[in-house]
Amino acid sequence: MNNVVVSLDIGSSKVSVVIAEINKKQFNVIGVGTSECKGVKKGVIVDIDATVEAIKTAVEMAEQMSNIKIKSAFVNIKGGYTTLIDNRGVIAVSREDKEITNEDVARVIQAAKVVALPPDKEIIDIIPQQYIVDGYDEIRDPVGMVGVRLEVDAKLVAASMTNVQNIIRTVQKAGLNVDGIVLEPLATSTIVLNDDERELGVALVDVGAETMDISVFRNKTLVFSKLIPVGGNHITSDISLICKITFSDAEKIKRQYGAASTKLVKSDDIIKISNVAGKGEKEIQVINVVEIMEARIQEMLYLIKSELEKNNLLNHLGAGIVITGGGLFNIKGIQDYAQDFFDIPVRFGYPNYIGVANPTYSASAGIAMYVLKQKKNSTIHVDSKKINRVLEENEESSSIDETEENKTNWIEKVKEFFADFF
Ligand SMILES: Nc1ncnc2c1ncn2[C@@H]1O[C@H](COP(=O)(O)OP(=O)(O)OP(=O)(O)O)[C@@H](O)[C@H]1O
Ligand SMILES: [Mg+2]
Repeated sequence: MNNVVVSLDIGSSKVSVVIAEINKKQFNVIGVGTSECKGVKKGVIVDIDATVEAIKTAVEMAEQMSNIKIKSAFVNIKGGYTTLIDNRGVIAVSREDKEITNEDVARVIQAAKVVALPPDKEIIDIIPQQYIVDGYDEIRDPVGMVGVRLEVDAKLVAASMTNVQNIIRTVQKAGLNVDGIVLEPLATSTIVLNDDERELGVALVDVGAETMDISVFRNKTLVFSKLIPVGGNHITSDISLICKITFSDAEKIKRQYGAASTKLVKSDDIIKISNVAGKGEKEIQVINVVEIMEARIQEMLYLIKSELEKNNLLNHLGAGIVITGGGLFNIKGIQDYAQDFFDIPVRFGYPNYIGVANPTYSASAGIAMYVLKQKKNSTIHVDSKKINRVLEENEESSSIDETEENKTNWIEKVKEFFADFF
């Protein structure tokens, strides 16, 4: 059981649970569960009870499949709801012979964590960009090198305490402890991107139900993150509003007849929908549905492109753009459409592993792989005292029952987990 990790993706349309292990260097999925969720809007939990129910259902499914009782999980936080802060840490190398050790690296990373933050923000992760030994920069791993002065340039990931707190409360209310909170693009990139892409420069765009999370990786590190609150459900809403049909009928039509371009459909194809508002059958032309879809898809791609252009990133993506998530992935003709639109290489990526080979599992499977891979040398650190304080401050206004025992359990769990990393 040592190498088994449980991950939880709380998405805007569904909750997914993945139980995975690394066995003989092979990543294996041993349990999966997914449940529709109406408690999350634009990636933020807005209805705790609805989300709790979805978590419970997804957890049960994964438990039944794996025959493992789930007690705790790693949970995602969206890239766009975090802030990346550049900072540098500096220390003197401690050993007399001046060989740099793992402890020195841990200390310099801690030193990089010291930064003035607004009181409602917390550092949830630190991503080292490069180490500098006695002025020599661009060092990836300084352990074993000799030097007097060790520096690190790091990106600090700061998240809103309210957001973090709501995630923790919801997961706890579903009967699970939180093992840790993982920055979603880091997780997704681990399973969807390859090393060359992350080295050369790539934009990973997770198009979900209500969000597009854009992250740019270069030299193997995350350098940019932005969330746009538009996703696949907007395509469905447009069809529903314009064709005057229910959201669920629109969703079915989108999946069955949808395409990225009117060039891909015959002009006289008709869809028959039965029992529309008690008025019997309704006929809709496929070309009209695809016209609606094309307009929204074009807008979504335009939003991605302009965000990349605005930040002077589009012309520096040696490995192009990788799109994942369910929002655009399965739409007929989308690959060519996106490729023509961006005019740089575009690939659609998903976790290529049995049980999760679907773009909607990119985040959940990614969290599991990220944790399993990083456990040895991760630099994640959560200030549990601060989280505890904020939890207590908000206790009075909260309507959720939370026992002292539960709270302490979580804090202790987080402490234990992060202690493993140093
Ligand atoms: N076959 C399909 N054709 C078109 N769209 C699809 C198809 N299957 C799923 N989708 C869309 O994918 C979206 C769900 O994707 P995903 O599971 O990645 O979102 P999420 O993780 O719940 O949301 P978010 O990441 O925005 O919080 C929905 O908008 C759904 O309509
Ligand atoms: Mg998602």
